[in-house]
Amino acid sequence: MPAFQSESTLLVRGSVLHFLADPGENDAADSYQYFDDGYLWVEAGIVQGCGHWSALEQVVPAEVRARAARHDHRGRLILPGFVDTHMHYAQAGVIGSFGRQLLDWLNHYTFPAEAAFADPAIARHTADFVVQQLLAHGTTTASVFGTVHPASVDAFMTAAQAHDMRVLCGKAMMDRHCPDNVRDTAASAERESQALIERWHRKGRLRYSITPRFAPTSTPEQLAVAGALYAAWPDLHVQSHLAENAKEVAWVKTLFPEQRDYLDVYARYGLIGPRTIYGHCIHLSAAERDVMVATGTAAAFCPTSNLFLGSGFFDYAGAVAAGVRVGLATDIGGGTSFSMIRTLAEAYKVSQVHGVPLSPLRGWYLATLGGANALYLDDFIGNFTPGKEADFVVLDLEATDELAFRISHATTLAERLFALTTLGDDRCVTATYVMGVRAY
Ligand code: GUN
Ligand code: ZN
Repeated sequence: MPAFQSESTLLVRGSVLHFLADPGENDAADSYQYFDDGYLWVEAGIVQGCGHWSALEQVVPAEVRARAARHDHRGRLILPGFVDTHMHYAQAGVIGSFGRQLLDWLNHYTFPAEAAFADPAIARHTADFVVQQLLAHGTTTASVFGTVHPASVDAFMTAAQAHDMRVLCGKAMMDRHCPDNVRDTAASAERESQALIERWHRKGRLRYSITPRFAPTSTPEQLAVAGALYAAWPDLHVQSHLAENAKEVAWVKTLFPEQRDYLDVYARYGLIGPRTIYGHCIHLSAAERDVMVATGTAAAFCPTSNLFLGSGFFDYAGAVAAGVRVGLATDIGGGTSFSMIRTLAEAYKVSQVHGVPLSPLRGWYLATLGGANALYLDDFIGNFTPGKEADFVVLDLEATDELAFRISHATTLAERLFALTTLGDDRCVTATYVMGVRAY
């Protein structure tokens, strides 16, 4: 059972912003709602509605207003909780490891760090730390890679469950091209994943994500096991990596010569479709993109990681224009910050490389409803329409002197939001709520 119980009726006051749809490249006005002096009404952890504070008496019955707890965040921005669509919790200790690109970085830093998770005490300590960091950065949902060790998933699910968070997590499956101390087999991966699914999938808000690390570290037999699990259980998710780095793409070609391209490897083993998401997707052909669109396979855009590891520049505007579902992600620990705000700032810079600047409102859509949509969790989270789970973050736009000074020169909502994108980070996070309960 979660350690936190909802305050049953809650009225939150502040500047409320949420999205109803993708604002597109020009920030379409009908894609979002903004209430400068607004309310958010929550009952038993579920959103009942939001609107102008001045309309409260007409909309919210007197007996509800009488019993409600009131949280006053006037002057602060209230947004749906951030959705980090791809991260590796066990890599928190190797963020900022110098001088390598993907394949060398994995061998030199990442696999040794993950090997330490054979010790469940290290897994528990790190999981508790990472969940605390997520909440401190305003992130209420994440799609999370465990290590090859099943206890790494137990640790993360336990830590997230203590706050009743909606998270996805899975045990990494990897049975070749990695050190023995982080290697499983097709058979053990099947057995262990199955046991973890039974233990965690759909327990409260938790969902299991089948997690073949990436094509080079799984044999065809293991990829087949992953695909069979995805097909066998309702609502399972799949997470992996795709077309991150040029050398990786060339390697996949030699490992799977029969497949037309990288995505076709995952397609061959039944690993594309609804609730599947692939990190990076930088070096994709038009044909691969078309298959992602046709099958509803999502991409996780990881700009801080892609810059840090020198992987390349994801074409966000091009992918979305083609119809790909895209979420934003930190990719800790290839990525360099838990902050989805800082991640958004880097996403903007990457979008400039492609000559299509990520517009101010669209960025915040991407960090909230866009991520929920990419993870197929938008029935539950992502905005403040009635019936959604009340996960939200309260942001202070004057948290630092440089941000406050810049904001004092801003005249429009878009300008303020873009200043927050560029200069904001976890110092702006005043509070984070999960299911209507203040968790940070
Ligand atoms: N590809 C396979 N494993 C990983 C990982 O841990 N991080 C990143 N960025 N890419 C990967
Ligand atoms: Zn990753």
